[in-house]
Amino acid sequence: MSDDAGIGGHVPVMLERVLELLGPALSGPAPVVVDANLGLGGHSEALLAAYPSLHLIGIDRDPFAIDFSTRRLAPYAERTTLVHASSADLADVLARTGRTAIDGALFDLGVSSPQLDEAERGFAYSYDAPLDMRMDTSQELTAEQVVNTYSAAELTRILRDYGEERFAPRVASLIIKERAKEAITSTKRLADIVRDAIPAATRRTGGNPAKRTFQALRIEVNAELSALEAALPAALDALVLGGRVVVLSYHSLEDRLTKQALTARTRDTSPPGLPVPLPAHQPRFRLLTRGAELPSDEELARNPRAASARLRAAERIRVDD
Ligand SMILES: C[S@@+](CC[C@H](N)C(=O)[O-])C[C@H]1O[C@@H](n2cnc3c(N)ncnc32)[C@H](O)[C@@H]1O
Repeated sequence: MSDDAGIGGHVPVMLERVLELLGPALSGPAPVVVDANLGLGGHSEALLAAYPSLHLIGIDRDPFAIDFSTRRLAPYAERTTLVHASSADLADVLARTGRTAIDGALFDLGVSSPQLDEAERGFAYSYDAPLDMRMDTSQELTAEQVVNTYSAAELTRILRDYGEERFAPRVASLIIKERAKEAITSTKRLADIVRDAIPAATRRTGGNPAKRTFQALRIEVNAELSALEAALPAALDALVLGGRVVVLSYHSLEDRLTKQALTARTRDTSPPGLPVPLPAHQPRFRLLTRGAELPSDEELARNPRAASARLRAAERIRVDD
C-alpha cells in the first residue's frame, strides 16, 4: 500500500484475510461492495485494485477520511461512490446511490490512525489537547460536554458499560468534584483525574488507567454501538445470495454485537418437533469464521495497532421468499 509510511504508518488490518473472505462473492460481472468504515481507504484501494469491475461505496462520518480517500482512490473515481455519513444511515445511503443489493460489506470499526495521531482531535490520553473525540467534526456533542454535563449516574454507566471500568463510580465522582472547581477541558487533566481516582495498587498494573475512560467517552460521543446495531443488519439485509460480510472489531462490546447479529441469522429458528423444516425458519446466513479470528503474530510484529482486532465473517445462503 503506497501510503503506509506517509500517513502515520497506517496499514489495513488483516488485509489478506479480508480479500480472501470477500473474494468468492465478487466473481460476478459488476460486484458492489460497501466499505462502511472507509477511513484512509486502505482496504477499499486493495479491493478496487483486485477486482477491476467492482463498484465501491465508501462511507465515513469523518470528513477528513472522505477527503483523504477521495484523493487516494482518484484512479478508481469512476468505480467509487464516497459518502460522508454515519454507517447508521447505511440503508439510506444505499437507497440514495440506487444500489440496494450488494455483494460484499466490510466493517473496519473504531478509530483511524490519524484520529489517534492528530493530537487536536482529542482521542488520545498521550497528548494534551482539547477534549473533543468527535469522528464527525460537524456534530455537536463533544467529550468535553459529556464530561462536564452528564450526571454521576450517567458517567458511571458509560464508564462501566463502554469502558468496562471497574472503578467507574470512583472515576465519575472525582470528575464531578473536579469539574465543580473548574470545567475539565483537556485530555491531560482528564487523564490525571482518572489516574487519581484509581487505587494506587491497581494503577501499577494493566497499562494507562485512562485507557478505559477514553474508550468509554469515545463510544458515547460517537454513538458507536448504536451505529453498529443499525448498520450491520442493514448491510446483511442488502446482501444478495452468496454475498459476504466481514467485520473487524477492536473491543469486546463491538465483537459481542457482531457475534449476536451474525448468529441470529445463522440459526434455524424452527419450533422443535416440526416434521419438515419450514423455509421461513431456515438460516439466511452461514458463518465463515469459527469464533473470532485474530491477526497473525507476523502482522502484530509489523502493525501493533492490529493487536485488539477480531474478525468475523458470514455469507448469505438463502434469500427471503
Ligand atoms: C479503523 S478506521 C478504517 C480504516 C480503513 N479500513 C482503511 O483501511 O483505511 C475506522 C473508520 O471508521 C469511521 N467510523 C467509525 N464509526 C463510523 C460510523 N458509525 N459511520 C461511518 N464511519 C465511521 C472512522 O471515522 C474511521 O475513519
